[in-house]
Amino acid sequence: MRVLSGTRPTDRLHLGNLLGALENWKKIQSEHESFFMIADWHALTTEYERSKSIRSTVREVAADYIGAGLDPERSVIFVQSHVPAHAELHLLLSMIVPIPWLTRNPTYKEQLKELKDRDLGTYGFLGYPVLQAADILVYRAGLVPVGQDQLPHLELAREIARRFNFLYGTFFPEPEHRLTEAPRVGGLDGRKMSKSYNNCIYLADDEKAVKQKVASMVTDPQRKLRTDPGRPEVCNVFTFHKIVNRDQVETVHRECTTAARGCVECKAEMAARLNQYMDPIRERRAAVMSRKGRIEEILAGGDQKAQAVANETLAGAKDKVGL
Ligand code: TRP
Ligand code: SF4
Repeated sequence: MRVLSGTRPTDRLHLGNLLGALENWKKIQSEHESFFMIADWHALTTEYERSKSIRSTVREVAADYIGAGLDPERSVIFVQSHVPAHAELHLLLSMIVPIPWLTRNPTYKEQLKELKDRDLGTYGFLGYPVLQAADILVYRAGLVPVGQDQLPHLELAREIARRFNFLYGTFFPEPEHRLTEAPRVGGLDGRKMSKSYNNCIYLADDEKAVKQKVASMVTDPQRKLRTDPGRPEVCNVFTFHKIVNRDQVETVHRECTTAARGCVECKAEMAARLNQYMDPIRERRAAVMSRKGRIEEILAGGDQKAQAVANETLAGAKDKVGL
């Protein structure tokens, strides 16, 4: 079974991406033939007015992928727009996707509301999930490891595959999703970690930046005094402890709820463990960045392998349709 997933290069990757997706990808790459894409066309759907920064972000994201442990010897790491078959399949699929499937998509409605600073009333943005379905189906991927927020898109991809199979004969497998087990981490302010909230810890952040950012994290809002007991279950710092300081979680929990520890020391301990966890990622990231031309070489290799598979599927799909 093939695996496909990807992210949009709108920004460097942060811990939310790492824990919500990349950690999962890293595990899966040793079990299945895997394709990991940098979805620059998808970035363009919302960034078309600042498109000039996408190319350099693609490079950063490639370094993040490798830093996170994706292995270019094992997995195909590639750039979406370098594989034209995605666009051609997107066009084919667009013929059979009823518009109401797209306008009722909860992610679509949410984004229209949230990203008020730009005009998302475009044809391309409406078709975002059709392009995503094409990304998956063009590899006939059976498994798509993603975060919770992508589930509506995955459901649509399945519906589109079913519709194609119904109209033209069985051709595409219906892709399943696979969620990460790690608890979902919030950003520094407790909201979803996101560039637009300016609350991210980036994979590329150095130790000092991580320490400072952790020190600024919101904790239990009801814990006003050092002597007040805290509630770890509502504290985002504690969520991080559960991931990077697993063997001490019970101690942290007990000392928090009995006010035996203060938030300042609690954060310092977590930041130290988080830095340990991030060290190998930063090292791999820096190493690949510092070898001139290495990222370009990895992506070119990935593009070629992706093209071979995608072109073959596209030819089959066109044949099914009768073109
Ligand atoms: N929509 C995904 C995101 O915002 C990125 C993406 C594009 C993707 N194409 C995909 C994810 C195909 C999984 C499969 O993160
Ligand atoms: Fe959160 Fe730690 Fe403070 Fe408890 S002690 S509220 S877990 S930062």
